[in-house]
Amino acid sequence: MAMAISSGLHCSLLMATLTLLVVQAQGITRHYDFNIQMANVTRLCGTKSIVTVNGQFPGPELTAREGDRVHVRVTNHVAHNMSIHWHGIRQMRTGWADGPAYVTQCPIQKGQTYVYKFTITAQRGTLWWHAHISWFRSTVYGAIVILPKLGVPYPFPAPHKELTPVIFGEWWLSDTEAIVNTALKVGGAPNISDAFTINGLPGPLYNCSAKDTFKLKVEPGKTYLLRLINAALNDELFFSVANHTLTVVEVDAVYVKPFTVRTLVISPGQTTNVLLATKPAYPGANFYMFARPYSTIRPGTFDNSTVAGILEYRNPGSLSSSSFDKALPIFKPMLPYFNDTNFVTNFTTKLRSLATKQYPAAVPQAVDRRFFFTIGLGTLPCPKNMTCQGPNGTQFAAAVNNVSLVLPTTALLQSHFTGLTSGVYAANFPAMPLSPFNYTGTPPNNTHVATGTKLLALSFNTSVELVMQDTSILGIESHPLHLHGFNFFVVGQGFGNYDAVNDPAKFNLVDPVERNTVGVPAGGWVAIRFLADNPGVWFMHCHLEVHTTWGLRMAWQVQDGSKPSQKLLPPPSDMPKC
Ligand code: C2O
Repeated sequence: MAMAISSGLHCSLLMATLTLLVVQAQGITRHYDFNIQMANVTRLCGTKSIVTVNGQFPGPELTAREGDRVHVRVTNHVAHNMSIHWHGIRQMRTGWADGPAYVTQCPIQKGQTYVYKFTITAQRGTLWWHAHISWFRSTVYGAIVILPKLGVPYPFPAPHKELTPVIFGEWWLSDTEAIVNTALKVGGAPNISDAFTINGLPGPLYNCSAKDTFKLKVEPGKTYLLRLINAALNDELFFSVANHTLTVVEVDAVYVKPFTVRTLVISPGQTTNVLLATKPAYPGANFYMFARPYSTIRPGTFDNSTVAGILEYRNPGSLSSSSFDKALPIFKPMLPYFNDTNFVTNFTTKLRSLATKQYPAAVPQAVDRRFFFTIGLGTLPCPKNMTCQGPNGTQFAAAVNNVSLVLPTTALLQSHFTGLTSGVYAANFPAMPLSPFNYTGTPPNNTHVATGTKLLALSFNTSVELVMQDTSILGIESHPLHLHGFNFFVVGQGFGNYDAVNDPAKFNLVDPVERNTVGVPAGGWVAIRFLADNPGVWFMHCHLEVHTTWGLRMAWQVQDGSKPSQKLLPPPSDMPKC
């Protein structure tokens, strides 16, 4: 270091250039410090103490380039156990850094530190990070921005600028841990949220919130890159900017064939990059951007309020830096009706992989193993001497193939790695429903689910086809299913019951969208394919937090391959203990 100081500017410039060239080839290591600490935050005229990273809400943005290594030192200073998930990061052989509590790690206890170490391989775009324990992700979340390798352009016209990522969240006036714990005690549905937020701000359509409005400032005649992240807990969202169009260019850190819409749909867990073209000349107006839920359940059982932000043009004639002018007209976007499933289907079927030479769609063409999972709600009997608030005095539950996953008190990945699985889990998750029924017809009388800790074992490099079928038990609903450790290709979707004879002929094996979270259509099915090339234990669950809590979750156990480069790495020495 002393040398660098004495050697003068030219030398350090040269060194910087050299470092840059090396970096381009191998990537660098990015270091982040995440201190889990409490902070008081006021929204909707109510103040509460929330769990945060570094006192920030939303949390800090993590930026890296494709090929970089990332080290995040997480230190827990609060009385709650903590665990952080890097949503969508492939984590090749580094499952220990994936984050879901009791799946890949024991939680980080108060006073403890754990350094998450992973490499960003063959991904670029937007992902995000969030707490992966109980409902702490309601306040513990932030963006992950992955830039392409130095010198590698986007496969679309270079935007003038990047705008601040827009992260949709969900806000409760009271403590979300109290809400989920109360609900679990009585088997009822947790209280719905009080507001949606953009970057933590509810906006002018809520009480006391005009001052808490997110604003995007733009100039006329430009194209901007806008990153969108749905970090809401329980709601898929429609999003639109008044009098502007959005060109979708990437989802879940994978480029797509560009297409232009007025309104888009984004499910919890999903990310979408869009190009926003501004008006050719200063419009003398402001434009609302709205987000509000898509839901097939009855209004009143979900939060059907609207978050608003404002798109502002810098006024060339104005001297003040804040161009927002109350005298200007402000336009509102039109959003689809809350249960407009047709709109959602129209949108999702537009998503296609780029499938170019540089960005190929590596869709598995042959399938080694086929699975069929039912995805839906159900019930559990009410314990003796208790009154339950679920359907007909039962408790709410949810399941995959009628198994409602019970998390162990130790980490599944640890048991898998050591082979000490007895008493923790069994690798006997059903490949298909044990008792088939008319999934989208009149629901069966018995809606009880089974509970258990079952994994589905796959040998290394198995090519998997999975059909996920929504059920009508307690009502059809769209479920955003998220798979850890892999991207998958969405090869088909439809309504009603999946037809194993006729539907496969309609699959798209050429340019299906590749992502990590997909909506199982309400009253329908979706078919995905992926290659099990990442050894470890990988969680798969509905990204509606209320459904995950009720048990709509399972895990895959992917065995090591024979080569050293095909094996799960050993656990880091600072792995938290249960
Ligand atoms: Cu974004 Cu398992 O979650």
